[in-house]
Amino acid sequence: MKILTKNWKVEKGLNLSDYFNLGGYNSLKKVLIKIKKVQILEEIKKSNLLGRGGAGFPVGLKWERTFEKISRQKYFICNLDESEPGNFKDKTLAEKNPHQIIEGLIIGAYTVGARQAFIYLNGTFKEAGEQLQQAIEDCYRENLLGKNILGSDFNLDLEIFYGAGAYICGEESALINSIEGKRGEPRKKPPYPCDFGLFGKPTVVNNAETLANISWIIENGGGEFLKIGKPDSPGTKLFSIDGAVKNPGLYEVPMNNNIEKLVEIAGGVKAGTELNFVQVGGSSGRVVPKDWLTEIPSYSREAEIPVGSGSILVISKNQDIKKILLSWINFFQRESCGKCVPCREGTFRLQQILERLDNGNFNDNDRQDLMKLVWTLDNTTFCPLGKFSVVALKDVIRHRMVKELS
Ligand SMILES: Cc1cc2nc3c(=O)[nH]c(=O)nc-3n(C[C@H](O)[C@H](O)[C@H](O)COP(=O)(O)O)c2cc1C
Ligand code: SF4
Repeated sequence: MKILTKNWKVEKGLNLSDYFNLGGYNSLKKVLIKIKKVQILEEIKKSNLLGRGGAGFPVGLKWERTFEKISRQKYFICNLDESEPGNFKDKTLAEKNPHQIIEGLIIGAYTVGARQAFIYLNGTFKEAGEQLQQAIEDCYRENLLGKNILGSDFNLDLEIFYGAGAYICGEESALINSIEGKRGEPRKKPPYPCDFGLFGKPTVVNNAETLANISWIIENGGGEFLKIGKPDSPGTKLFSIDGAVKNPGLYEVPMNNNIEKLVEIAGGVKAGTELNFVQVGGSSGRVVPKDWLTEIPSYSREAEIPVGSGSILVISKNQDIKKILLSWINFFQRESCGKCVPCREGTFRLQQILERLDNGNFNDNDRQDLMKLVWTLDNTTFCPLGKFSVVALKDVIRHRMVKELS
């Protein structure tokens, strides 16, 4: 079952004429001509499509709230920042089929009543940027963007905003600050963007993969989408599978596969190595030991292993876990925006301690300090980045994977 990757070509991305030939923009025509906005909202809610940016928030509810807001100006933003190490799904989607993202974005903007939209693109994604820019120009030429789209009274402008590649700018309120020309650091929430977003106006921020599902749902109905995967976490998902597997790459599968199966899909563990653990969901993801591989990563609130953005990193017994711990904290320390003390100082102190763990100078004081820092980062930071920085470390401690931390 493929929704997102079905028509991808090996060598290059689909252009507008390829996309038209595959029935592209028929869903947009359908929503502009045949169905009312409330019906679109009903279909999206029925599908139980959950945001693919990591948090799994229901798309129908987000759109409905923004639709209900009365405002002369609303905005719609596609989040294509994807700075989480090990993730390459949104970037690849944009390179392979930019129109599938754009069609979902136009339908979303139309539904909520936005007339200005942005794609917030990680500035290091050169190929994706070129594909999206060409796709936007083609859409303006074919009246899929601009004034009176396809003869309707709907106007929409879309432009790419190039971010500088900071991880925190993937967080929606920091992303909004960045577009506004402010420092890329998070805002206090609430208010959420659908109430007070870009330039203080109601704004939807959706992940690129989330939006790429929309045209399929409009075409086939929310009920059909709900049948794929599991009802509490339906649809297919793009998994970026990497590390000690035979065939690292991007795979689209229904959301009912357990971790073991996902590793198999990527060819299984590389010859000559033995699986130690799997990290699910990027650097901020859970560390899953061998005997937990039957868990199904999911967006359900009850899920033991959240799917997050969908990266699967397979770590073999040949790899030094202390060095991996250090590389995770190096990432968070570098990407901490510095706005709050617990994260700015905490990630820095933790980095120093994990350096000592790696070079053999770890002592009992370090152990106590490390536990306090884990608690502080887990409970007191301004935004989720602080909490993210210790998710994997907490699992390493819980599963007694490093003798000194047991
Ligand atoms: C530190 C941090 C980084 C994030 N990075 C991304 C990102 O790169 N892409 C993304 O879509 N969402 C990212 N998010 C989640 C966004 O804040 C937001 O929830 C998401 O874009 C909403 O889209 P969705 O509902 O379609 O998932 C990040 C969140 C945090 C806390
Ligand atoms: S938790 Fe980290 S990234 Fe988030 S606001 Fe505080 S310093 Fe910035």
